[in-house]
Amino acid sequence: MRIGLLTGGGDCPGLNAAIRAVVKQATGEYGATVTGFRNGWRGVVDGDVVPLGRADIRNVLPVGGTLLGTARFHPHAEHGGLDGVLATLEAERIDSLICIGGDGTLHAAQQVADAGVNVIAIPKTIDNDVEGTDLSIGFHTAVNIATEAIDRVHTTAESHNRVMVVEVMGRHAGWIAVNAGIAGGAEVVLAPEEPFEIERLVKFLKHRHRAHANFSIVVVAEGAIPAEGSSMDYTQELGRFGEIIAGSIGERVSKEIAERTGFDTRLTVLGHVQRGGSPTPTDRILGSRFGVAAVDAAMRGESQVMTALRGEQVVTVPLAEVAGRLKTVPSELLRVAQVLA
Ligand code: F6P
Repeated sequence: MRIGLLTGGGDCPGLNAAIRAVVKQATGEYGATVTGFRNGWRGVVDGDVVPLGRADIRNVLPVGGTLLGTARFHPHAEHGGLDGVLATLEAERIDSLICIGGDGTLHAAQQVADAGVNVIAIPKTIDNDVEGTDLSIGFHTAVNIATEAIDRVHTTAESHNRVMVVEVMGRHAGWIAVNAGIAGGAEVVLAPEEPFEIERLVKFLKHRHRAHANFSIVVVAEGAIPAEGSSMDYTQELGRFGEIIAGSIGERVSKEIAERTGFDTRLTVLGHVQRGGSPTPTDRILGSRFGVAAVDAAMRGESQVMTALRGEQVVTVPLAEVAGRLKTVPSELLRVAQVLA
């Protein structure tokens, strides 16, 4: 069995744990080979390959990023991209392609699978918005980093009697904002799932500061948007792949709060800090479990599936049922963030 392996889309902590597990499991008891593709789908189209053996994965478990490199690159969006993918996979005699990625990578994986390639997907994204799995690689570490940042901002907010706006990642879903907001004791959490009314937010802050507090923490997901009819006009700034330009909504919210309340207000944009550095044990374990499960699935002859965490179990789910579908924060969790504000 010849296994191909790529990491696509934005990087995150825990990818190397998954790569390591794929290589160990494949080359160990199964005696399979692993061919890595550099920089996601771009490496498959360009035939940029690297054979992966045990020496290549030594000491990578605690290291962030991905030893294979990654890129935001969709083969279908490039002229001759799919033909390039198929030609490389044939030249390398790949029996099964393991794709580690988020929404964009999984969507491309589904299209490649539809062209007849055996594909196994592994979900990763700090946004945790891949449908079908309780957790994606990278999310746990990002929540840890965001929570620590909120804790740190807390003490300086209190010392200076300030409103602190903390912008976290989360393009289409507010998983990081809600979880870090609850864990860090934020007064307000703004998530894409519930468009916000700036008037209500300002009223709440004024009331809180009049009543008892001298500071507030407002956590904003980068994908948060004002409700229709709200007196705050705002257009998201998007990059080439629909990625949000960091700081845009945080800056706006921070400015509106300062202007409408007169409170001393500061903005912290966490940005890519949330995606860097060493993975938490949870992400190392999740990456390891998904890597082993993906190889097992390939060896069982499964195809067009994604590894997924369901409760305590790692299972495989049909890729077609999850690719391109968004997992948003449930109302119960959103409510907890509001109740505790
Ligand atoms: O999809 C993960 C993510 O970190 C999003 O939260 C964010 O909007 C985006 O990637 C940033 O993309 P880039 O690294 O290309 O700026």
